[in-house]
Amino acid sequence: MTEYVLATANPDKAAEIQAILGAALRLRPRPPEVPEVEETGATLLDNARLKARALAAATGLPAIADDTGLEVDALGGAPGVWSARYAGEHATYADNVSKLLRAMEGTPQRSARFRTVAIAAWPGGREVHAEGAVEGTIAVAAAGDGGFGYDPVFVPAGATATFAEMAPEAKHALSHRGRAFRALAELLTGT
Ligand code: IMP
Repeated sequence: MTEYVLATANPDKAAEIQAILGAALRLRPRPPEVPEVEETGATLLDNARLKARALAAATGLPAIADDTGLEVDALGGAPGVWSARYAGEHATYADNVSKLLRAMEGTPQRSARFRTVAIAAWPGGREVHAEGAVEGTIAVAAAGDGGFGYDPVFVPAGATATFAEMAPEAKHALSHRGRAFRALAELLTGT
């Protein structure tokens, strides 16, 4: 079975990807000595590709990466590709959530979606990618302490609870990352 090295340095994302893909693919964690690349791309695909290609080149192994954005309609699609840095270069999850709630104060139109691009890249240049998205709304206040990032303020369509209030398996069954990585695993395993 092919072994893939996981590009993300974010332990929250790594744990989710492991939980989603663990049964389908053999994953090895990112070697700590490989420096992280700057996410300078203009799109989620550009950034996911930058991360995967850099790690494949550094390790000689096929690498798996993803990039995720939260697109809020009332904010013209922001924070989008800037989701990690919405409240500044070294913003915490809490900083980003506070900024989002402030920006949305009094806004009745609360529709939003998470979008993830997941990619596998080989040292020789081959690559395969897949996308996953989940529609939802931005809550008026944060709720729940599961998940990470914007999970306390994102209510997926058809649910009454935020991602942060759901069990991890319930989030992965619906989520952008679950959908993107299950689609990628299908492409990689041919199932
Ligand atoms: P990244 O560039 O893919 O690391 O993700 C950008 C930012 O989006 C992260 O720093 C998180 O704030 C947020 N994010 C990514 N995935 C999720 C998720 O599943 N739930 C909530 N927020 C997320």
